[in-house]
This record gives sequence, structure tokens and C-alpha cells, in this order.
Amino acid sequence: MNLFEIREPGTADALRPARREPPVPGPKEVVVGIRSASLNYRDLLILRGHYPNLRLPLIPLSDGAGTVISAGPGVTRVSVGDRVAGIFNQAWIDGSPPRRPLALGGDRDGVLAEQVLLPEDGVVRIPDALSFEEAATLPCAAVTAWNALFVSGRLKPGQTVLVQGTGGVSLFALQFAKMAGARVILLSSSDRKLEKALGLGADAGINYRIHPDWEKEVLEKTGGEGVDHVIEVGGAQTLARSLAATRPQGHVAVIGVLSGGQAALPVFPLLSKQLSLSGVYVGSRAHFERMLEAIVQNGLHPVIDRVLPFGEASEAFRILEEGDFTGKICLRF
Ligand SMILES: NC(=O)c1ccc[n+]([C@@H]2O[C@H](COP(=O)([O-])OP(=O)(O)OC[C@H]3O[C@@H](n4cnc5c(N)ncnc54)[C@H](OP(=O)(O)O)[C@@H]3O)[C@@H](O)[C@H]2O)c1
Repeated sequence: MNLFEIREPGTADALRPARREPPVPGPKEVVVGIRSASLNYRDLLILRGHYPNLRLPLIPLSDGAGTVISAGPGVTRVSVGDRVAGIFNQAWIDGSPPRRPLALGGDRDGVLAEQVLLPEDGVVRIPDALSFEEAATLPCAAVTAWNALFVSGRLKPGQTVLVQGTGGVSLFALQFAKMAGARVILLSSSDRKLEKALGLGADAGINYRIHPDWEKEVLEKTGGEGVDHVIEVGGAQTLARSLAATRPQGHVAVIGVLSGGQAALPVFPLLSKQLSLSGVYVGSRAHFERMLEAIVQNGLHPVIDRVLPFGEASEAFRILEEGDFTGKICLRF
């Protein structure tokens, strides 16, 4: 079967086509014939060599959906022919996260392969209402946004959410927050992307290139109060501004490192406003399944910028790196 693998992260030809024998399922394992995969910023960090201790060669990408093509003895959760998606952290089924994550495309081989061997516990059934491409956008970005808003954040209708950027996590956060009756203020580097976000339901947009001190704009748009929740994907350059833009007893979901992973944390606004900071690392299978129910109930469809053929995986990474997209980039197998 055909696949792509990373042998030397950080080099120009880090992503290489390769072939391996098709997998054979053992007890409680299934083989999924992947039909679509989607890219996340994390996959780019891994390709660039910014992740330590990778087991190489590594099949990249955490997010894929397809059909169960064979099942080993003792498999009861799914059947051959079922449409499924892999869960991001194969070790997190429900409850508290495990001490050691087992994430696809990082801690173990991912889904940029025609066939993928997974434990039956590591997949969820995908609803008929979603295409393979749509389902392939969900395991990392959507579950992260879901966890940040509804599990860590306990978002309530009428609250205000600040969303940073128009990438995968951010547009899911926008869609979920609107679904829950919240108000959304969204930041972007581009007026064109802001227009698109307003069309998706954002209540206000701020161009962070034009307004580098965007926290002041956020305060102005919230009557000086600040937002209830921040979907913090920026990291080093944004965390202090996010704290400044949050109302007393508000919540900052610390998710991303788009502008770097080492941030100086200003302690005073944190304690004086009694803010809560939650580290979010995707979510469990139970989060994923609850999220799927909400997606179906609300007729929600992920925002897919474009779909490229499997063989153009390198081009998909190039588009991700250049940032000229909104929502998700998918591959079709
Ligand atoms: N902790 C977790 O569980 C978890 C899960 C998923 C992702 N992440 C992290 O979250 C971040 C986003 O991931 P993703 O896959 O959603 O990324 P993505 O799809 O590549 O989206 C990136 C977008 O973020 C915006 N952006 C970039 N720099 C920004 C800045 N300084 N301020 C505000 N917005 C900025 C840009 O939007 P505009 O072009 O509109 O400006 C860019 O298109 C990454 O750091 C990723 O590693 C963490």
C-alpha cells in the first residue's frame, strides 16, 4: 500500500512517498481504508522537526476517515463496511487524560496511508450527514475547540468568545460558539478572511495586522468589560493580550503556539481579574462522540478550504505553511 513518511524532519524532502505491506488486524484491531485526511498546524511542526523524540520513519497526520475493511477477532464496536474516523489520542477514551498520550501522526504512525491499523477503541463511527472529507477534519481541530468551549470553558449562551485567526481550531470554535448562542469576536490578518468569518456568523472582526494592540479593540467592542472566553491559539505573542482582553473571572483556553511556545505570563492581570487558564490537549473519544451528536443535531458542516489528491500531500503542506486558506485543507485518497 502507498503512504507518505517522514524520515528526516526539518529537511527539504522531509515528506517522502513510500510503500509498505498492507496491515493485518490482530485481536480487537481493525484496518481502516482511509478515504480522506486533513492537515493541522501540528503536522507542520512535526514535519519541520519541532517535535522531540519522534519514532522515525513516521507516517504523519492525525486526522483521517474511511471505511473499516477488515476486523480482527473479538472486534465488537464496529463492523466491516462501517464509516469511521480515528481518534487523535488513542489512549484517551473517557474521563481524565492518560499520563502518556498516544497521538496519531506523532507518538505513533498516523493516517497518511491507504490503510491504517487501529485498535477498535481508537475509532468513532461517523454520521451519514458528513462526507469523508468533513469527517476527516474533526479528530484534532474540532475536538480541541469543543473541549476548550464546552468542557474546560463551560460556555453559556449569551457569553462572548474571542477567536484568534481563521484556521482549523478557530473556525470550529466560531461555529460551535454560534451554535451555543454565544457572541463571537474574531481576529484575522486579512480583511478578506474576516468577511468570510462574518458570513459564517462572527459578530465582529478585528484585523490584527491593522490593530496590533487588538486587545484594546476587543475591550471597546465589549463595553470595556472584556470577553468571557479566549480560544488562545497564538501563544508567545498573544497570551498577554488575551489576558488583557478577558473580563474578570473569564477563561482563557491555552491551545496553540502559532507565534511561539515560550510566553512571558503577566501575573498581575491573572490574579487581579481572577482569571482561569486551562491547558487544552485535544480531547477524549467521549468528547468526540458528544461533539458528533451536536454536529448532526445542528446540521453543522466543517469549513473546508480545498481538497487535494492523496499524491499532492507535499503541496497541501505548502499551502498550510503559506497560510492562504480558511478552515481546513483535506486530501482525498
Ligand atoms: N493544544 C491542542 O490540543 C491543539 C490542538 C490543535 C491545534 N493546536 C495548536 O493551535 C494552533 C492552531 O492550529 P490549527 O491547526 O488550527 O492552525 P491552522 O489551521 O494552521 O490556522 C492557523 C491560523 O491562525 C492564525 N494566526 C496565525 N498567527 C496568528 C497570531 N499571531 N494571532 C492570531 N491568529 C494567528 C492565522 O489566521 P489568519 O490567516 O486569519 O490571520 C492562520 O491562518 C497551532 O499552534 C496548533 O499547534 C493545539
